[in-house]
Amino acid sequence: MATFKSLPGFREFYPEDYAQRKHIFQIWRQVARRFAFKEFDGPVLESLELFTAKSGPEIESQLFCFEDKGGRQVSLRPELTPSLARMVAARANGLKRPIKWFSIGDNFRYERMQKGRLRCFTQLNVDLLGEPGPAAEVELIALLVQTLLGFGLSEEDFFVRLSDRNLWMLYLETLGYDEEAIGGILGVVDKWERLPEEKLLAQLQEVAGERAAELKAAVDGFLKLDSVEGIRSCFAELEQDAASAEALAARLADWQQLLEGLGAMGLADFIKIDLSIVRGLAYYTGFVFEAFDKKGEFRALAGGGRYDALVEKMGGPDMPAVGFGMGDVVLGELLKARGKMPEFVDTVDFFAVIGGDAEKLAVLEEVALLRQAGYSVEYQLKPQAFGKQFKAATSSGARFALIVGSEELEKGVVKLRNLADRSEQEIPRGQLLEAVRGLI
Ligand code: HAM
Repeated sequence: MATFKSLPGFREFYPEDYAQRKHIFQIWRQVARRFAFKEFDGPVLESLELFTAKSGPEIESQLFCFEDKGGRQVSLRPELTPSLARMVAARANGLKRPIKWFSIGDNFRYERMQKGRLRCFTQLNVDLLGEPGPAAEVELIALLVQTLLGFGLSEEDFFVRLSDRNLWMLYLETLGYDEEAIGGILGVVDKWERLPEEKLLAQLQEVAGERAAELKAAVDGFLKLDSVEGIRSCFAELEQDAASAEALAARLADWQQLLEGLGAMGLADFIKIDLSIVRGLAYYTGFVFEAFDKKGEFRALAGGGRYDALVEKMGGPDMPAVGFGMGDVVLGELLKARGKMPEFVDTVDFFAVIGGDAEKLAVLEEVALLRQAGYSVEYQLKPQAFGKQFKAATSSGARFALIVGSEELEKGVVKLRNLADRSEQEIPRGQLLEAVRGLI
């Protein structure tokens, strides 16, 4: 007989795995709500064009796409951001700004299989739209940090790398590159840590020709900067016209505001300025950030940034936006590695212990009432000796056993045993619900 395995990169969640998944979703929701974000969702299947046009080449090569029965070119979503931008664009005038939305949903990317990367993963997306200034980044980065803290992780476990595509633009423009060349250069910067020197140089040559070696030295220098002061001095050594000097001053003021805001929230120590983060997706325009584990064992926990032009490109009004996505895969691995993934036991309120067939009918009546009133109740479907049923009751984690043997049946009562302290009380049948209301 053929054996059917699940597809590579697609997980199966047995109940104990699902409990961990639920734990992750629960903290995600709790923290997003603490920051007053509202939950929403978009479609899982979209037109292929939405992603080829908006997500950029890296994601394009990973799409799960096909032709549907109506002849449409479609794709499972590799990310939520283009759908979100379209949804906001469609109702922009009726939405109160800032728009603060979050979502938890599955995404699909046909990636090369590697640690921390699957082909179906769940992402928390948090996005704030309608606020152009760094006050938005302060909220989102704070939310990102608070989420990871919410899982019991600490400053020892993770940090956020903060960078700025806007600053890169200013820097590379000052060096004399145009917008197209800058796009190409940032594509290479995105791979800086991963590619060997010769490959970097070869790729820079494609955009900068004979200036490649000089450009590489400049980029190497820029990548070393890790403070606002350092950035300021780096630019001071370059020749800048008045307009770009003014743009730089405004940008550094944004940096100051962002860092001060995070500092005021007590989060400064989680932030590391690291200009090597430029983000592979096509739509980012300003501050960009990624969260990593501190030991450098795992891939990015989360990533995001500002994408001020996307909503307008989707036919909406001018709508500045910042957001991030956090996946459940790397996060789950990190929580397990640091001993922060709780063990879960699914418990019930009551476990009914039943004498025989006559008692069973009496018990089912009580069980139905309890369940209807919202309590969780379990019992053995097949007749079993009392001893076995008590064992099952204990291992179910139930707080109370509900016992009806021949004696109880005759007296017209139900015996309620507290399984923790073994205390017992007899309750007349029909009055169980009132009696347990005071207990649970
Ligand atoms: P991203 O950096 O592509 O950004 O993904 C964000 C996070 O999703 C990653 O840091 C990682 O935790 C998780 N992730 C991505 N791909 C995989 C995979 N194949 N397997 C497991 N986990 C994965 C975005 O998706 C942007 N749309 C985020 C965003 C929202 N930007 C603005 N708003």
